[in-house]
Amino acid sequence: MGRKTLHTKVYRVTEEEKNRVLNEAAQIIRRGGLLAIPTETVYGLGANALDKEAVRKIFEAKGRPQDNPLLIHIPDASWLEIYCEKIPPLAYRLAEAFWPGPLTMILKCKSCIPYETTGGLETVGVRCPDNAVTAEIIRLAGVPVAAPSANRSGHPSCTSAETVLDDFAGRIEGVVDDGPCRVGVESTILDMTEYPPKLLRPGGLSLEDIRRIIPETEMDAGICRQLREGEQPKAPGMKYRHYAPKAPVTAVMGGGRESAEYIRTHIKAGEGVICYEEYQDMFSGYACASLGREGCPQEHAQRVFDVLRSFDKTDAAHIWTQCPGEEGLDLAVSNRIKKAAGFHIVEI
Ligand code: TXA
Ligand code: MG
Repeated sequence: MGRKTLHTKVYRVTEEEKNRVLNEAAQIIRRGGLLAIPTETVYGLGANALDKEAVRKIFEAKGRPQDNPLLIHIPDASWLEIYCEKIPPLAYRLAEAFWPGPLTMILKCKSCIPYETTGGLETVGVRCPDNAVTAEIIRLAGVPVAAPSANRSGHPSCTSAETVLDDFAGRIEGVVDDGPCRVGVESTILDMTEYPPKLLRPGGLSLEDIRRIIPETEMDAGICRQLREGEQPKAPGMKYRHYAPKAPVTAVMGGGRESAEYIRTHIKAGEGVICYEEYQDMFSGYACASLGREGCPQEHAQRVFDVLRSFDKTDAAHIWTQCPGEEGLDLAVSNRIKKAAGFHIVEI
């Protein structure tokens, strides 16, 4: 981890000061600095994707393994052909349907994208975030912005500027505060270098939505189960323990009422629980956080990282969590919860 040597400035974009703030933020990127940026999914830790030195700082600040490549962020689909080649027509169809929005496409990259950004791969993940402030900063900077999620490596992602500061105050030049993220889980990653395309990470755009355009879309192993020894995920980052709060987590799968009752029976003094709002009353006396209402995937997605993070401020020795099913956005939520639990799962 880098030392805390910087004064981290918080930028808020107000109507009166919009131009000055956006220009100052874009300057940080142009100068090779680190700037946390808002997106509709989670906050990103941004730097000039074409500048090796700037990109190195991202890895250092996050404590991220060097073989874990970064996504690049562009303001619109017209930038695709500047940085990628052999772009299949289906990629343009998806961009048309879902950009700006929570879809990252893996494409063959051109040599202008440095090794440091791609982790040595010949492909790059490209994302066009649905956040007007960030799109404008990228346009003003005039370069694609490499940005992994703005969290220390292995920790839950950040959906507010406050949580970004918990992890990075003193280690980055600034954070652009645009309030809480609308989606709350990271983008869906789709490998477009093969046909049929393959889902590498479920995220803010549902598999069902993608299949409405490309019905053949497949799912990579490792999204719903732990990889076997020697098995390699296609998204390098998916092999690391991820999204984990300090205390160990156990995920309980099954019906809402049944899983809440299972946790109620097994929880011990000093342990914590993440449950649907409907069942919070069952856990008075325990550190308890709500995942939102049962059957409301948007609420689960918006809250999942915040509730995981919230336990780092308690003494809970172990966290029990209810875990939703796999439909729509819940596929991404259950994937994050299972990974936070290191696949320590009880099925009832
Ligand atoms: O919503 C998001 O995607 C957020 C916001 C900030 O845009 N970004 C994000 O980046 O989640 P990160 O670095 O935390 O996760 C990107 C994942 C990692 O697991 C990485 O290994 C994988 O994408 N990845 C990056 N480039 C890849 C490539 N060329 N091929 C396969 N997987 C790749
Ligand atoms: Mg991440």
